[in-house]
Amino acid sequence: MPNLPTVLRPIEELRERHSSKWRRFNRDVLPMHVAEMDYEIAPGIKSVLIDFVTRSDLGYTGPVPEVGETFAGFAKRHWSWTVEPKDVRLATDVGVAAVEILRAAGNAGDKVLVNAPVYSAFYHWIEEVGMEAVNAPLIRESVGGPTEEEPDSFEKSVTVWRLDLAAIEKAFKAGVKLYLLCNPHNPVGRMHTRAELEAVAQLADKYGVLVISDEIHAPMAFPGETFTPYLDVSDEAKRTGVTVTAASKTFNLAGLKASIIVIQSDEVRVKLAKLPEAMHWRTSLLGAFAMAEAFENGDAWLKGTMMTLADSRKLLAAEIAEKLPTVDFHLPENGYLAWLDLTSLNLGDKPAALLLTKEKVAFVPGEDHGKGYEQFVRINFACRPASIRAAIDKIANQAAKAARK
Ligand SMILES: Cc1ncc(COP(=O)(O)O)c(C=O)c1O
Repeated sequence: MPNLPTVLRPIEELRERHSSKWRRFNRDVLPMHVAEMDYEIAPGIKSVLIDFVTRSDLGYTGPVPEVGETFAGFAKRHWSWTVEPKDVRLATDVGVAAVEILRAAGNAGDKVLVNAPVYSAFYHWIEEVGMEAVNAPLIRESVGGPTEEEPDSFEKSVTVWRLDLAAIEKAFKAGVKLYLLCNPHNPVGRMHTRAELEAVAQLADKYGVLVISDEIHAPMAFPGETFTPYLDVSDEAKRTGVTVTAASKTFNLAGLKASIIVIQSDEVRVKLAKLPEAMHWRTSLLGAFAMAEAFENGDAWLKGTMMTLADSRKLLAAEIAEKLPTVDFHLPENGYLAWLDLTSLNLGDKPAALLLTKEKVAFVPGEDHGKGYEQFVRINFACRPASIRAAIDKIANQAAKAARK
């Protein structure tokens, strides 16, 4: 099947969209923040939605076996992961799924482990259920580059962010029973390795922890990178884990409100017996069928989109290397979010706020991802190349001003 080309409308048309990306800030702000794509959705999904609307088929959500069946096919094709359709259930969105899982598995006051810097909504979900986030931060390392043995190496070092297994075990030992894992990890674009996930599963099994694996970014691996579903790594993972995911991030359908929960063991089914049935009925009918279409027929669109994203990622890297050479930036392994350390630019206490007011460009501020990340910004590069160039120019402009002070 040939790849489908990515379709991008002119910025004036994008500005007429009604979503948060285009409405949260004034029209003169360049929006590089929320995780929505500027690309047109897959034609097959468009047809499904038009068909439902044309037939006024907009009632309540009844049984949708298509979702489990098509996800099982998608998981097998993309990750060789065997999923039984009956183990898949619908939820309103990944946020609702995670909140309901936390509620079903624990009580207000419980501690939930996260790995900062991490997707800001994780903190809100935990707060919503009256629980407390505890942190085992990712380890940030420089890999490659000149070493003691080879001080004259021309190889450039790259930044890698990875799970800190010792810190995770320490938290489990201290009694944390719930772990919200971001796999792949937003905002750093890291796909945790099979070995890391196996180790997490062993620890979770040993200490009786429930691992909620948020895999919403999973289908967007760049060439040469491998996504590993948590539940697929071992029996321990199946006994300790529940996956929450959706087609919404990959296929740009966030407004349609539909996600899935995957449980592959009786142990977890028992732990989550209190999950409300109503989650199914609270899922959008359009969202559920659009998701099934994405999982069944979305591969050609996804391939084309990944080629476009690879070009965007390359452009972003080149722009940063040329205009912001001191900024620490690493290529994300998946998706369309990049994590930039602006410390070297001296943009004050809150670089994202400064860039919004002075340059009219919106990033997700680093501090939303955890304390201590104020000097970072998250940028969404699923957009027009001109927007990427403009966003980097705007940072460079403030950097030049700061340097003149
Ligand atoms: C890791 C992660 N989980 C969940 C979401 C949001 O999912 P939903 O809109 O289904 O709640 C996002 C959105 O960017 C995300 O990055």
